[in-house]
Amino acid sequence: MTDAIDPKYFRQVMGQVPTCVTVVTTMVDGEPKAMVIGSFVSVSLDPPMAGFFCTTDSYSWQQLQEGRALGVNVLGADQIDVSNACMREPDERFDGLDWVDVDGAPRIAGTAAFITMTLDQIVDAGDHQFALCNVTSMDMPDEPIEPVIFYGGRYRTLAAEST
Ligand SMILES: Cc1cc2nc3c(=O)[nH]c(=O)nc-3n(C[C@H](O)[C@H](O)[C@H](O)COP(=O)(O)O)c2cc1C
Repeated sequence: MTDAIDPKYFRQVMGQVPTCVTVVTTMVDGEPKAMVIGSFVSVSLDPPMAGFFCTTDSYSWQQLQEGRALGVNVLGADQIDVSNACMREPDERFDGLDWVDVDGAPRIAGTAAFITMTLDQIVDAGDHQFALCNVTSMDMPDEPIEPVIFYGGRYRTLAAEST
């Protein structure tokens, strides 16, 4: 533990870094599982890789590791309710959601992007683990949907493009 960095201030300063809001999903024993993830990141083009960070002792992260595929649902600006739904108790997260099983990766309707992946490596990173994954398929609407953003501990939408 480093005395120099106060955890509260760490969170406050890191809150200045805007992130995406994704719901990472899998199927376990025929049941859909989901975890809201803001740390999703593109990693490599060749081979295509992407990843995300999870709290090491997260129950939801343990569940994601049990599936054979992962789905990354990049939430649109009008899908804050989907993020809130996926912050409920693990077995209630899909209640009322419109989704389909895409080869073991639940796809939520109306997202800005949908990416399927398989887990390649788990890398220890302090009190988190980095899930380094191989991208197996990608899709987005023909007419792009703007994403929701997480900033300063709150959901935001993008302002009009600056010139
Ligand atoms: C916008 C947003 C982004 C989040 N990003 C992450 C993340 O990148 N990694 C993580 O471990 N938890 C993240 N969380 C928290 C997890 O979604 C949450 O702790 C988890 O689903 C709760 O289940 P658990 O108690 O089984 O871990 C995020 C939550 C929100 C609302």
